[in-house]
Parts: sequence; C-alpha cells; structure tokens
Amino acid sequence: MKVLLTGCGFIGRNIAYALSDNNIEAVILDNVGDIENYSLPGCYFYKCDITNLDEVSKILDKHDDIEMVIHSAMISSVAKSVKHPFEFYTQNVVGSLSFVHLLKDRGIKKIIIASSASVYDDVPGFMVTEKSPLKPRSPFGRSKYIFELMMKDFCNAYDLKCISLRYFNPVGIDHYFNTREHKLPMKTGSNLLEILIEIYNGERNKFIINGDDWFTRDGTCIRDYIHITDLAKANVKAVLNFDTAFERAGSEYTNYLSLNVGSGVDVTVKEFLIAFQNIIGDKINVEIGPRRIGDIGGSYANIQFAKKTIDWKPEFRLEDAIIDRCALNEQIK
Ligand SMILES: NC(=O)c1ccc[n+]([C@@H]2O[C@H](COP(=O)([O-])OP(=O)(O)OC[C@H]3O[C@@H](n4cnc5c(N)ncnc54)[C@H](O)[C@@H]3O)[C@@H](O)[C@H]2O)c1
Repeated sequence: MKVLLTGCGFIGRNIAYALSDNNIEAVILDNVGDIENYSLPGCYFYKCDITNLDEVSKILDKHDDIEMVIHSAMISSVAKSVKHPFEFYTQNVVGSLSFVHLLKDRGIKKIIIASSASVYDDVPGFMVTEKSPLKPRSPFGRSKYIFELMMKDFCNAYDLKCISLRYFNPVGIDHYFNTREHKLPMKTGSNLLEILIEIYNGERNKFIINGDDWFTRDGTCIRDYIHITDLAKANVKAVLNFDTAFERAGSEYTNYLSLNVGSGVDVTVKEFLIAFQNIIGDKINVEIGPRRIGDIGGSYANIQFAKKTIDWKPEFRLEDAIIDRCALNEQIK
C-alpha cells in the first residue's frame, strides 16, 4: 500500500515514522526546508507546495499506485489566525480545496484529513463526542470546520470517502526517538509542554496561567493532551482500517467519518504543571493572568468511536510525553 502524506512538520514527521514502522510506503510533500534530503525506509520525500497543482501532478505521475492521502499540510495556531485570517482561509480552505479536487480528478478516493478539536462548542461536563455541537471560536477553528463541510460535499458529489481526525492537544516527541536507526530532523510542536521546557531552560522567566476562575475543579482550563506518537498511530490505524471503519460505524456513515483523536483524559493546567514539576524535580515560576479571548473552560475527547471504527486507542500517558520530551531536552543541552 502506498500513501501520500502532505505536511512534514511536527505531526507529519511522526506520522511518517508510524507509516514507515508499519511498512506502509509513503510519498511525503512539504514546501519548506530541505525535505528532499530526508530519509526513512519506504518513504519518498518531495519539496512541493500542495497549491502547485502541476508539481503535485508530476509527483502523482511518478507514483501512480497511491491509494490514499493523509492531508495535514495546513497551518495552525488560534492566536495567529485571529490576526491573519486571510492566510488561514487561503491555506486551510482554498489551498486544500483545489488540492482535493485534483485528487478526485486523479481517481484517488480515500482521504484522511487533519482536523481539530477546536471545531467543538463548549459543552457541560467538557467531554465531547463526535455528535457534540460544533461552534468554532477562531478563524483557525472555522477554517477546519469549513474544510470538513467542504469534504462532506465532495464525498457526496464525487464518490470520495473521508475520515476526518479531530486532533486534541498533541504534546511530546516521538517515543522511539532514541532507538531509531533513521531519524528525521526534530521538530517540536508549540504547546504548553514546550513553554514549560523553555522556562526550565531559562529561556522564559515565568509561566502565565490564563485565568484561574474557570468553572473547573481547580479553576484552570481543562484540555486533552495526547502523546504525539499515539496521534501518529491513529493515522496508521485509519489507513489500515479505512474501509472497515465505515462498516463498523453504522449505516448512517456511508462516506464521511469524524473521529476524536485525544487521550480521553481531562487535565487542568495546574495538574499539567504539577506533573511537569514532579518529573523535573523542580518548581516553575508561575503567575496567574487574565483569561484569553476565545478560550473555553474545558474540552476533552470521548474516544469510544475511534476505538470502535479504526481499532485505535492511546498507549501513553501525559507523564510519558513529558518524560520523553525532557529526555530529549537533556540530550540537546
Ligand atoms: N499541532 C496541533 O496542536 C494541532 C492540533 C489540531 C490540528 N492540527 C493540524 O494538524 C496538521 C499538522 O499540524 P502541525 O502541528 O504538524 O503543523 P506544522 O506547522 O508543524 O506542520 C505543517 C507542515 O505543513 C507544511 N505546509 C503548510 N502549507 C503547505 C503547503 N501549501 N504545501 C506544502 N506543505 C505545506 C508546513 O511547511 C509544515 O511543515 C495541520 O493541519 C494542523 O492544523 C494541529
């Protein structure tokens, strides 16, 4: 089986590892860096912008046995999207629209897309299922929501099938990094764990908690932090179980599935901080700041539907992600 993977950033690199580990051939595109020098068993790397349809076509000509696409080459960041909505809608909606249309013209009918938990509304109790109400609160969240709607319409009109993976908050690094024979250049995400690492390294002086007056057990926001390796494995499970996922989902799902990809565990910011401090054996300088505009009090994933359909469940805990990331930090120092 050969898969086209777009985007080789924080998440894409980890998906590339997981595909390679499972002997799934992958053609991998990204428009920045020296990706053509990357090497992983079973992977072909190309420097290419997904909006350059001529270049994408040439790559598809070379690899006319691609059966499925994992589309992750989109931009993220709630804060940046508020300041730069044009870039977010251009890349995540317009760019992806023409790219998927090309896939359809080339007869590639199975598509997995990187969506986000930010499409959901704030719900009582904070746990969201795939049927929970949607109400994205930022241009980033809305770009993902619009792209999901667009993919549904494409599936209905063009006989495509799509699995949309709604990622929660990926953290950490590749769990197997130290034992790998072939390594890609490291790229970490931009998330709470990376901020704490920067403070630990003395690159920032304090950690600001954005509000401690939320209606949660300790007043700080609840999120669902998933180990990046678990998220990458969810993509592989979606590839391997693509057709059966629709059968297992039930008769109302003929061509489009949204699946929550989270740890299924609710963690407050203060609890994250305590876990981090326990692992580093030191205290972090903390200040309570105001709430951020656009934030919600809490959100975490019910992951039963992903378990049922793609036969995936997370293997790692938040502590594993922190330990893996801290181990890398010690190596770099
Ligand atoms: N990181 C998160 O917390 C998070 C959460 C939810 C959803 N997502 C989604 O997951 C996907 C991957 O996110 P990430 O954290 O790895 O981001 P990232 O920025 O680290 O990686 C995205 C990669 O896509 C590439 N890219 C962007 N536009 C491109 C284009 N037009 N053509 C070719 N390559 C292009 C970038 O160069 C980059 O390497 C995105 O769709 C993102 O919206 C991420």
